[in-house]
Order: sequence, then C-alpha cells, then structure tokens
Amino acid sequence: MSRILGPGEVPVAREALLNGELVAFPTETVYGLGADARNPAAIRKVFAAKGRPSSHPLIVHIGHLDQLGEWAEPGTPHLDTLAAAFWPGPLTVIVRHGGRVGDEVTGGQDTVGIRMPAHPLARELLGSDLALVGPSANRFGHVSPTAAEHVQAELGDRIPYILDGGRSAVGLESTIVDLSSGSPRILRPGMISGQAVAEVLAGSIGSGQVAGSPRTPGSMASHYAPRAQVRQVPSGQLDQLVAEGAATAVLAMKPAPSGYEGLWETLPATAADYAHGLYAALRRLDAGAGTILVQQPPQTDEWEAVRDRLDRASASREVKQ
Ligand code: TXA
Ligand code: MG
Repeated sequence: MSRILGPGEVPVAREALLNGELVAFPTETVYGLGADARNPAAIRKVFAAKGRPSSHPLIVHIGHLDQLGEWAEPGTPHLDTLAAAFWPGPLTVIVRHGGRVGDEVTGGQDTVGIRMPAHPLARELLGSDLALVGPSANRFGHVSPTAAEHVQAELGDRIPYILDGGRSAVGLESTIVDLSSGSPRILRPGMISGQAVAEVLAGSIGSGQVAGSPRTPGSMASHYAPRAQVRQVPSGQLDQLVAEGAATAVLAMKPAPSGYEGLWETLPATAADYAHGLYAALRRLDAGAGTILVQQPPQTDEWEAVRDRLDRASASREVKQ
C-alpha cells in the first residue's frame, strides 16, 4: 500500500520527488503520477509503474511561467497568449523543445507537452522550481483516477506515496493544443473547449491528427477503457433495454426505474458536473459488470470531451495493447 500524505505533508512529497521517488499528486483534471522531470532514472520508474510503453511522451508540469524557457523553444507562437488565458488550468500545450528535453520525457519526439495545473496542492508541490512529469496515475489503458483511493487501487502496490487533494474538480484530462506545427490544433478535447481556445487566439482552430502532427499515443481508440464492455445507447432504447431486463449496469442522467436491481449510476445533466463524476462512476460500475449501458449524452459542443471519453471507453477492445 502507498502511504497517503495529507495536505500538511507537501514537504514530504517534495523531498521524495527530489530523491528520485514517485509521488502521485492531485490536479484539477485527474491525479498525476509525479516524478522529477529532470531525473531520467525517476522517469523510467513511471513507465515501469504504469506498464506504459516508453515511446509514449509525458506532460511536464510546471508551477511558474519563469520555468517555460527550460522546456520550450523561445518564441513559440501563441504560447504566451494561451498561458495568460488558461494557466494555471486544464490546458496542455505541445511545443518544440529545441533539444532541451530528454528522450525519456518526449518519447524521442522534438516536441514536449507542458501544463501548469491549478490544484492548490499541485501548485504548492511544484513551487517555482520543481518540474514534474505527470501521466494520469493509472495503469496503462485504465480509467484515469479522480481521487486518492482510485490511485491506491491502481498503483498502491507500486508507488511509495499518494498526496491526497480530494476529488479532482474537472474530472477529465486536460485539453491538449498542438502549437508545434503550423496552425494550432486540438489533439485531445477537454473541458476548455476548442471554441474557447479559438476565441482567445482570435482565429479558428483545427482538431485531430493531420500528417505531421505530433504522435499522441493516448488518443488511440480504447485508451480510457474500463474492463467491462461499454455500450452507448440513445435514451429511448435505454428505457426499453432496462425494461426487458437486458442491463446489469447502467450510467444514465436519470434515476433507475423502480424494480431495477442491477448497478445504476446517475450523473447530472450538465456537462461540467457530468465530467466531474464520470470516471468515479465508471469505476463503480466496472467493479461488478460485464457490460455497462451508457445513456448517450447530448451532441452539443460543451459535451465534446465527455463524448470523446465515452467513445474511447466503448471502442473495440481489440485496439487496446
Ligand atoms: O490532465 C492531464 O493532462 C493529466 C494530468 C495529470 O495533468 N495528465 C495526463 O497525462 O493526462 P497522460 O500521460 O495520461 O496523457 C498525456 C497525453 C498522452 O496522450 C500523450 O501521448 C500526449 O499527452 N503527449 C504528451 N506529450 C506529447 C507530445 N510531445 N506530443 C504529442 N502528444 C503528447
Ligand atoms: Mg492517461
């Protein structure tokens, strides 16, 4: 079991990180598996603990804008504008590093992902000097953790410390914007929408991978998947399937009908509140179910990140490695 550190024990966490140990830490998106981003041996422990292929690049978390020059090539277009608008917060930028960053972090690419998280304990932990790699603190391919106990269940037998900062407020991983190649593109949707990014940049923004985009291995289908099969169904069909007794686990935006005896999780019908609760609900449903039926969320823009994660969770398991 990992030792759980309370809010008063940030100095213990810092000390461990500076000694090359792993510490899971809270962010407003999901919990990260932290290691000193300047320590290659510590970073290799991250890949071992997660069971993650070493070719998958890691995000560098910083606490202060003064640290940018250590990681990003100077003069990156749009970087200052996005940092001023969204940091600290749930946005990651992909920028050229100009030879500053080691292959352990970048997976051998000439770009690096950088984010300044907003969670108060993450900020205290980072200060203005520490830089931490921080993939989500789950085993490779599993659902990201949004509470310390999720990390304990995923990695408790593999890492010495978990810094407990309560439930992650946002609940989905950060929006990733590529600033490394031509015009900005959204590589992973998050709760900061493409539209919000475009407004700040006073222009339009692309999305998805194009030829020449940096590899974003976490964006492969079936990456954020529970063990159970996830099947999305339109509201009308859900009622019918439940009435027929076909469902043993359901994720919906309404309560279970009377008489239903399987697992049922109800999430709020607003995108931000739904996102906040999604991964914890999937975890609870995953514990006892072969198939999870999910009531399809609305098709509007504000639900894009939620739809993206549900689509990945329900993608064919054959794609997963
Ligand atoms: O919200 C978040 O971003 C969380 C918290 C802990 O900060 N972190 C997170 O890290 O989601 P991770 O490693 O689970 O996902 C990072 C994604 C991966 O899909 C990775 O491939 C992509 O970012 N990525 C990282 N560096 C990249 C780079 N240089 N080029 C392209 N994609 C990159
Ligand atoms: Mg992840």
